Amino acid sequence: MRIIVAKDYTEMSKRAADIIASQVRINAHSVIGLATGSTPIGAYEELIRQYNEEGLNFGNVDTFNLDEYLGLNCTHSQSYRYFMNKYLLDHVNIDPDRTHVPDGMAEDPESECEAYDQLIREIGGIDLQLLGMGNNGHIGFNEPSSFYTAPTHIVKLTESTIKANSRYFDNEKDVPRYAMTMGFRPIMQAKRVIFVVSGKAKAKVVKEALEGPITPQLPASILQLHHDVIVVLDQDAASEMDLKDNFILTDDQLFR
Ligand code: GLP
Repeated sequence: MRIIVAKDYTEMSKRAADIIASQVRINAHSVIGLATGSTPIGAYEELIRQYNEEGLNFGNVDTFNLDEYLGLNCTHSQSYRYFMNKYLLDHVNIDPDRTHVPDGMAEDPESECEAYDQLIREIGGIDLQLLGMGNNGHIGFNEPSSFYTAPTHIVKLTESTIKANSRYFDNEKDVPRYAMTMGFRPIMQAKRVIFVVSGKAKAKVVKEALEGPITPQLPASILQLHHDVIVVLDQDAASEMDLKDNFILTDDQLFR
């Protein structure tokens, strides 16, 4: 596991965007797994800047998002499809037909989950998966549980996630109680994972996830088992970490 500790959110976002941009430059036909939440927004802004100013080309890229709320239409301002279009996809030269988010309005959500996995398999899996982390250690919407669920599936959101995500809704009651999420199989089968965490509020959980026992009670801890994961933290998120056994790159070391 490689850990990059950036001095602040802006630097963290730049590092994360540079890793994604390199992937796209090296392989124009890359399959990128995308995440929602406030954390990756800065990285998406930087990718848009690189598209506008440096010719970063998304013309042959495919994207797969991690998750979607069940029951929210793609035009709903809190749906993850809406989020992705707003913060990245509408601003770069990607073919909309090659951008994938589970359909929260699917008539048969179980079949939608199966079809989503099938599509990821057919395309040859994900080259680079971007992940954020919820306050309780969830990735995608894989909530703390007593077991890891492999395929894309329907999940009941925990009270803590509903509360955390209610900041985007008018009322906590409006937050959907269920979501579809990529399971651990497509995530762990991604050829490379980039894991971004920002802020003091997540410092303890990220320490436990990366330096503590691997357990489905703390879903992000499974990333310790991934063969190619790059963790990009800001200093606040890294503030509780031991970091002894890891290869740490500070901004100074990276960019002299
Ligand atoms: C949601 C998403 C996750 C994301 C998490 C954290 O629950 N399903 O993929 O990592 O929010 O969001 P934030 O970055 O705003 O803390």
